[in-house]
Amino acid sequence: PAKWVSMVTARTPTNIAVIKYWGKRDETLILPINDSISVTLDPNHLCTTTTVSCSPSFDQDRMWLNGKEISLQGGRFQSCLREIRARAQDVEDEKKGIKIKKEDWQNLHLHIASYNNFPTAAGLASSAAGLACLVFSLAKLMNLKEDNSQLSAIARQGSGSACRSLYGGFVKWVMGKEDNGSDSLAVQLADEKHWDELVIIIAVVSARQKETSSTSGMRDTVETSALIQHRAKEVVPKRIIQMEDAIQKRDFPSFARLACTDSNQFHAVCLDTYPPIFYMNDTSHRIISCVEKWNRAEGTPQVAYTFDAGPNAVMIARNRKTAALLLQRLLYNFPPQSDTDLDSYIIGDKSILE
Ligand code: PMV
Repeated sequence: PAKWVSMVTARTPTNIAVIKYWGKRDETLILPINDSISVTLDPNHLCTTTTVSCSPSFDQDRMWLNGKEISLQGGRFQSCLREIRARAQDVEDEKKGIKIKKEDWQNLHLHIASYNNFPTAAGLASSAAGLACLVFSLAKLMNLKEDNSQLSAIARQGSGSACRSLYGGFVKWVMGKEDNGSDSLAVQLADEKHWDELVIIIAVVSARQKETSSTSGMRDTVETSALIQHRAKEVVPKRIIQMEDAIQKRDFPSFARLACTDSNQFHAVCLDTYPPIFYMNDTSHRIISCVEKWNRAEGTPQVAYTFDAGPNAVMIARNRKTAALLLQRLLYNFPPQSDTDLDSYIIGDKSILE
C-alpha cells in the first residue's frame, strides 16, 4: 500500500458576540431563533491551530485535543465530517505522488490534532474557534469548492457560534428561513482593518468551567422564558440593523450602548429561565458598574462590556489610550487572585501599558 500522508494546518481565532445568539429553533441542525453579530479576535489570542491529515495507512478517524485523544463519535463532529466528505473533490499532487478521487474520501480515514493557545477549561469560547478551524482545514485537505459562507453553514452544525469564526472583522450570522438550514450562515459585515483602533481586553475572573452548558441553557430558556420570545421577535431584529449601522459608521457610543444592553438582556433572559441560570458572578457585576460609572463620568462611552455563558468580562475599548486606562483600572480595582498570574488573568495586548 502507498505510504503517503496528506496534511493541512490552519489557525482560527474565536469570536465574541456583541448581539448574542441564544436559543435554537432546531437543535440537530443548530438553527437559531435570531440573527447575531460578533467580532473576531486577532489570531494572537484565543485561537485554535489544527492539523488534519489523511493516509491509506490510517484505519480509523481519530482526534487529539491539546495532545489528548478525544472521541469523534459525538453527533456534531459526525455531522461536520459527513457534510465535508459529501462535498470533497479530487486531489492530485504529482510531486508527492498523491492522487485521491473524490469517491475515495468516503473510505480514507483522518487524523486530527488540535491545540488551543489558551486554557480549554477556562470557560472561554473554545468551541467556536475549534469547530471553525476543523471545518476550514478539512475543507482545504479535501479541496472543497465552497466559499467561507457555505463552509460556515457546516461549522454551524458543529457549534452555532463557530460559523462566525470563518471570517475576520465583524460578522453576522443570518438565522435564515429554510428548514434544512441552507441559508443559516455567516456573512462578513466589515473586515479586520475597518475599525482597527478598537482594543479587546478579557478579564478571566473565574477559570472554572461553566455549570450550565450553552446547549442545555438555551433549551431551558426557550422552553420556560416568556422574555426570550419578545427578545427574539421584537428586540434583536431592530438591534441588528442599528448595530450594522454603528459598525459601518464606526460610531462607538451607539456600538457600546447596543453591545452592553444586549449582553445585559441575554443575562436577563437567563435569569428569566426556570430554574434560573446565573452566568455572571459578583465580580462580573462590579466590573459592569465600574465601566458604567466611568462611561457616565466621561459623558460618552469609552468602553463596552459583554459577557457570554460565564463570568469573564470581555471589554472593548474605543482606542489604545482608553485600553491602557482600562487595564490600569482593572488591575487596581480587580487585581488577579494570588494564585493567578497576569497572563492567565488578562487576555489581550498588554503592550499598551508600556
Ligand atoms: O455556540 P454555542 O453553543 O457555544 O453558544 C454560544 C452562546 C453565546 O456565546 C452565549 C452567545 C454567542 O452568540 O456567542
